[in-house]
Amino acid sequence: MTYIEDFAKIIEEQLVRVERMKNAQDAPDFAAMDKIVIGTIDGDGIGPIIMDSCRAILEKLLADEIASGRIELRRIDGLTIENRIAKMETVPADVLAAIKECDLLLKGPTTTPGKGDGRPNLESANVTLRRELDLFANVRPVVIPEKNIDWIFYRENTEGEYALGSKGVEINDDLSIDFKVTTTAGTVRLARAAFEYAKNNGNKKVSIITKANIMKKTDGKFLDLCRQVAEEYPEIEVDDWYVDIMAANLIDDKINSNFNVFILPNLYGDIITDEAAQMQGGVGTAGSANIGGRYAMFEAIHGSAPRMVEDGIAEYANPASLCRAAIMMLRHMGLASKAEVLESAVDGAAVDLFMPGDGRGNTAYDFTDYVLAHI
Ligand code: IPM
Ligand code: MG
Repeated sequence: MTYIEDFAKIIEEQLVRVERMKNAQDAPDFAAMDKIVIGTIDGDGIGPIIMDSCRAILEKLLADEIASGRIELRRIDGLTIENRIAKMETVPADVLAAIKECDLLLKGPTTTPGKGDGRPNLESANVTLRRELDLFANVRPVVIPEKNIDWIFYRENTEGEYALGSKGVEINDDLSIDFKVTTTAGTVRLARAAFEYAKNNGNKKVSIITKANIMKKTDGKFLDLCRQVAEEYPEIEVDDWYVDIMAANLIDDKINSNFNVFILPNLYGDIITDEAAQMQGGVGTAGSANIGGRYAMFEAIHGSAPRMVEDGIAEYANPASLCRAAIMMLRHMGLASKAEVLESAVDGAAVDLFMPGDGRGNTAYDFTDYVLAHI
């Protein structure tokens, strides 16, 4: 009966998390802060290469603020797969403590050991950080001007299939069970963030994506709560779709430009945002913000590309996605004009440089030089 005890413990932990969410801190008022500490976390694989590029760019862009001490760029080391395995901790305690001393984080990709790749079964560092820092909204814009597409995805970032992703049970050789979690507090805060964005940006249309016909309890709750929050925004047009048909809609050029803001549970958001980023030009082109109360973390949407490192072509990694994350961070801090300067340079690089990521064309160093020359 030990499974039943384990399950009771899981439920208790989730109920404690619900109480914590109810008492969560509000976002800081950056304008009122004397000093803002931005932690930069290289990660592993192509992470150090693309982060070097971004750091050099931010050092130039924020030179005055750094010189005056208003902004500090602080390197956080040790979030590498080697160090994590050596310590057998997904996010080593000293690294997590250093991260929690920052206000904002810019993070490179980190390798997640895969099933059967011979490495210890550590949880994804992303998932751990999103949970530890309670970064509940994963915000991912995708813009394709020539198709008139202007999308922004509000992906739930701490619940769904991810909340207990490493706590599933292999009952025996014949049976495995995983869990999916939806909470009222977790859903409402995400929905509110998405509707506030829609309202503050000209009452954009909001589309709720679930599979509530199958995942009746969890997605059913998610859909009901998003619909309830929508009632507070009567001026905003709202529709809801199942995730399978939405995956099709996104690549249907007759209708895809009709969508603006999406609200999705965690796993569907993971999948759909890769599809959307690919339409924009590849997962290397999209930025991603993880927004919580006290903390916010900005990262590339892609992984650590260990294959590029093995093939000796890591220097051909494109820093654009991480730079787009930095642009979102600058906007989040209220530095909109700096964000625009960087955005136009990164847009220019997308046109003038050729970076297919397969060892041909321009390198990350060419990208850095290009952007430095255009800011
Ligand atoms: C993402 C990534 C992560 C996720 C991985 C690295 C755990 O795919 O940020 O979309 O699944 O959320
Ligand atoms: Mg993903």
